[in-house]
Amino acid sequence: MKPQISPRGRAMPASPIRKLMPLADEAKGRGIHVYHLNIGQPDLETPQALRDRLSHADRVLAYTPSGGTPEYLDALVGYYRGQGIDVESADLIATTGGSEALLFAFFATTSEGDEALVCEPYYTNYNSFATLAGVRLVPLRTRGEDGFHLPPREEWERALTPRTRLVLLCNPNNPTGTVYTREEIERVAAFCRDHGLFLIADEVYREFVYDGGHAISALTLPGFEDQVIVVDSLSKRYSACGIRLGALVTRNREVHQATLRMAQGRLSPPGLAQLAATGIPDVPAGYFASVAAEYQQRRDVLFAGLTGIPGVFLRKPEGAFYFIARLPVDDAEEFARFLLTDFSHQGATVMVAPAAGFYATPGLGRDEVRIAYVLKREDLEQAVAVLAAALPAYRRARGLASRPDAAAEPAEALRIQRPVV
Ligand SMILES: Cc1ncc(COP(=O)(O)O)c(C=O)c1O
Repeated sequence: MKPQISPRGRAMPASPIRKLMPLADEAKGRGIHVYHLNIGQPDLETPQALRDRLSHADRVLAYTPSGGTPEYLDALVGYYRGQGIDVESADLIATTGGSEALLFAFFATTSEGDEALVCEPYYTNYNSFATLAGVRLVPLRTRGEDGFHLPPREEWERALTPRTRLVLLCNPNNPTGTVYTREEIERVAAFCRDHGLFLIADEVYREFVYDGGHAISALTLPGFEDQVIVVDSLSKRYSACGIRLGALVTRNREVHQATLRMAQGRLSPPGLAQLAATGIPDVPAGYFASVAAEYQQRRDVLFAGLTGIPGVFLRKPEGAFYFIARLPVDDAEEFARFLLTDFSHQGATVMVAPAAGFYATPGLGRDEVRIAYVLKREDLEQAVAVLAAALPAYRRARGLASRPDAAAEPAEALRIQRPVV
């Protein structure tokens, strides 16, 4: 008899970010250049200070302590201090990227059948971690018209059930680029405290804030020590996605100890990555400012280009390096496929991530895509030219009216003007 895979294995969702990759590969095989706006893989160099450390590797690449090497944890403590965040190495667990920190955070705080509140659209891989943990993600809707800021407290209260264990908040936000105000974060933290919930704050884009703003870390809110678990990562901060190193940060001792026991079960986080990360103190002081300036320019190029295309709707995001754009299409996934299978403009096309996979509520995001601006400016300009040519071509191919009109912005979205909290 053939063995059967588990219901969990069956339920695991495929990543909407990577799902169309085979079509992109086929397009490349036909000699078409594909601009990847679908994935947050920055093209900037990883700082030399990190890469240099790798030449100091021991002759034996040994396991490291499960919670991280003292040198890596010290480097992190120094980094946080530089950000005005006061943590000790005893508050940290080194993880294999922010992804493992998310997994540990779910496993440390929930049981099968529990629920987690999350604002949609959200980072689609939260679905994977929730599925692994057997947790149901309960979405609270945010809208482009409000800059995807947080819904009012009544909506959070309404979403609560006896199974609610935590709130998952990504700030700065992937996929919307929203940076929440201090007041918003305090409100969510207070909601968590009032109902005995954990606040898992995913802050992997902490440095990516534009126009002179900065992200408020949940670790800086006094009085929420028992609530807050921060997910952190070196992937984006140092343009080092392949390093696979991050951290779970919490002052809640029980959570810390539970996480450490899980970390012991998987023995150790990557040793070479921790070695590279000991270079953190040597990263030049102006590094984050120059990276943010580069991304701000990229955001501006893409925002100006896309808002110039008839029927495209988006708000200028404050941070991270993504945004959600509403397109004058009936089905963004079909459009994304069309780009890769049926269309090219001057030998090039674009890959975007259909946004439906970033929502839990069926039907939402069908006319939206998530766009990452991790390419250099010239490439972004080319990508905009491709999209500007592709949208009318797609509308013709699908028999849609030749000019997108107000119908491209759903009536519901136009009607609702919510107060931003
Ligand atoms: C919001 C968010 N959280 C966590 C991660 C996980 O990153 P990593 O595992 O590379 O640290 C990502 C990666 O894209 C992300 O966008």
